[in-house]
Amino acid sequence: MKVLGIESSCDETAAAVVEDGSVLLSNVVATSLDLHIEFGGVVPEIAARSHIESITPVIKQALKQANCTWDDIDAIAVTYGPGLGGSLLVGVLAARTLAILKQKPLYAINHVEAHVYVNFLTSTDSPAHKIKASTDKAEDSAGSLLDKTKPAYTLPLSPPTFPLLALIVSGGHSQLVLFNDFFDYKLLGQTRDDAVGEAFDKVAKILGLPYPGGPSITKAALGGNPHKYSFPKAKLDNKYDFSFSGLKTAVLRTAQSEIAEDYSFPSHKLSERLTEAQKADFAASFQCIAVETLVDKLVLAAKEYSPNSVVVAGGVAANQELRKQIDGRLHTPVVYTDPKLCTDNGAMIAAAGCFAAKKSTKTADPFDLEITPSLSM
Ligand code: KG4
Ligand code: ZN
Repeated sequence: MKVLGIESSCDETAAAVVEDGSVLLSNVVATSLDLHIEFGGVVPEIAARSHIESITPVIKQALKQANCTWDDIDAIAVTYGPGLGGSLLVGVLAARTLAILKQKPLYAINHVEAHVYVNFLTSTDSPAHKIKASTDKAEDSAGSLLDKTKPAYTLPLSPPTFPLLALIVSGGHSQLVLFNDFFDYKLLGQTRDDAVGEAFDKVAKILGLPYPGGPSITKAALGGNPHKYSFPKAKLDNKYDFSFSGLKTAVLRTAQSEIAEDYSFPSHKLSERLTEAQKADFAASFQCIAVETLVDKLVLAAKEYSPNSVVVAGGVAANQELRKQIDGRLHTPVVYTDPKLCTDNGAMIAAAGCFAAKKSTKTADPFDLEITPSLSM
């Protein structure tokens, strides 16, 4: 069964075709990231407008890259939440329209949960490795936002197995979830305030590093000393909950005192007074403690629940320091996917659609599927 997945919850307009939940046939992502950089974060109106421009060329490109016509597509899956309202609307309306016109079943997918399912894409006997780097010519003017390079992906050889412990870490979520099966899970813990990706983004802003903060903190941290500053770890009633806003404030206060100013010194002026070496030390020390906090709880949950597999999902799962610390401390097999599939994409939605179809999940009504911006797990 081949499913077309459509994702538009934030600043990526994405579509992909996945077969049977394991074979990646195509993956196309157009990001409006460049348009948000000068604002230091995603501007919802700009993101929504970019989705409108990109959605049709992205879907066309995903079908073309998969060598599929509409006759080959068995179902459509779309993110209906959580996310930015205006952004979600574009994807959902496109999917509803296509489901009606092309007479395909429609599956409504939870974006956060879908991050986990992208880890089920494998490279065994898969044409996925045929998706090699190559460049296509732009098909129409809106395609200018489209990444026309088909990347090659490094996928795991075998999928995770249940029970599966998932650490879901993105710009909007930090959660530990125990899955007994697809769509059957227990939420063990979640963030009480900032998500870990959000903390990377906010600390990057304090240090004057570009958005998104994850990759720029990682880069700056390469030249820094992770033990230069000791930041606190939050203690919470539920041992599996997270809190990152105190860590972000600790970075701010330490940076203020480092330049001999008090807490009233404006955060947006701090980076001008920090040297490159200080920025690197802050980046490395923050990253080290943020990652250590995630791994502490992952290891604790793995001991308590003895899962068969562990999966790390969401944008922050691309972080190499996180992967290194997990590999050094966890004894349960961990399935990692290609870092390019950790950030938002259509493949995760298409994979979720395949599993929804396999489990005979109720399809969505294409005439009235609504977006749910604050959808939770
Ligand atoms: O999953 P995602 O693409 O979007 C959401 O669903 O939120 O995650 C985006 C988040 C951003 O906060 C970004 O800074 C973070 O993932 N991120 C990283 C890395 N790459 C992206 N954080 C740490 N290390 C990275 N390499
Ligand atoms: Zn996401």
